[in-house]
Amino acid sequence: MQIETNISLKPYNTFGIDVKAKKYVSINEVAELVSILKEYSSDDLFILSGGSNMLLTTDISSLVVHLNLNGIETVYEDDHIIRLKIAAGENWHKVVNYCLERDYGGIENLSLIPGNTGSTPIQNIGAYGVEIKDVLVSCDAINISNQQIRTFHLSECKFGYRDSVFKNELKGQYIITSVTLELTKKGHFLKTEYGAINTELQKRDVTNPTIQDISEAVVKIRSEKLPDPKEIGNSGSFFKNPIVSLEKYKTLKNNFEDIPSYQVSDSEVKIPAGWLIEKSGFKGKRFGEYGVHKNQALVLVNYGNASGNEIYQLSELIKLTIDRIFGIQIETEVNIF
Ligand code: EPU
Repeated sequence: MQIETNISLKPYNTFGIDVKAKKYVSINEVAELVSILKEYSSDDLFILSGGSNMLLTTDISSLVVHLNLNGIETVYEDDHIIRLKIAAGENWHKVVNYCLERDYGGIENLSLIPGNTGSTPIQNIGAYGVEIKDVLVSCDAINISNQQIRTFHLSECKFGYRDSVFKNELKGQYIITSVTLELTKKGHFLKTEYGAINTELQKRDVTNPTIQDISEAVVKIRSEKLPDPKEIGNSGSFFKNPIVSLEKYKTLKNNFEDIPSYQVSDSEVKIPAGWLIEKSGFKGKRFGEYGVHKNQALVLVNYGNASGNEIYQLSELIKLTIDRIFGIQIETEVNIF
């Protein structure tokens, strides 16, 4: 373990923003993390995982701790299920492929989501009708102030839509070191009801889908809509889909007949932020080195040399415009530093 100085973070954030870490250390073992946490106070540390859900707007003067913990271990197995304990630094899509190769079902709908496994519980990643909470048994996390490892069972994670205890009351207090998932070995529970998956399976004449078919369909859908961060810098959905009251929705529907919506409870409706942004005229707009993606308006992109601040300013403009047109305050999904 070696502390390096003046390292560009461009390769370590999927937005590809070129800011510098004044001090940087790559962590490969929990013991290394413990020793760093003993030496530095939490205010002097900046924890970096897959860098796929962040926008960096400034150089980082704290010590950047890059979590590269690796390993996948079977902790329980019977004829029907398997429990895998996956180290936080494992690339998420590689984990999905590891499971598909062995025919372990449960995370096929979460194919191609950028980032590392340790971040998946923080924002309860979700796509095409599945969230990490549906397969998560527990996660281990290290308490930054006393270095004790604590196991958080499913209910203790307090999962919600792109939300968990780690974004709220325990924000900044724990670092997730591993995640334990329960997957099926047979009798997989397939989730194909999300419109685009069914359509894609039909196109392929698949009537009896396997988990591999579903993954392929998801990969196809995602690749068409979402830019590959290796080619165009981005952080996936920049905003969360807003949830509004049924009353508010009815008023909007009177003015915007084609507004899409998903009922989330008796009194609330989720509106796709992508639609609001498109309707506001931002979809596909390019401003020099940055802009709004042409196929999915929820995604802000860096064409190469944008600064984090430029993208942040664009996001603020989008928020203000949507508030003005629709009276809805959308929230950012990515973390801005
Ligand atoms: N839409 C538009 N214009 C756009 C984009 C979307 O009108 O440019 C409307 C369409 O009506 C479409 C609807 O929004 O039918 C939903 O679009 P989509 O299926 O692409 O899903 P989303 O709500 O925009 C969410 C997640 C994605 C996830 C997809 C699929 C959030 C913030 N985003 O997007 O997650 O992949 O559903 O499940 O919930 C991410 O979090 O980084 C991410 C990519």
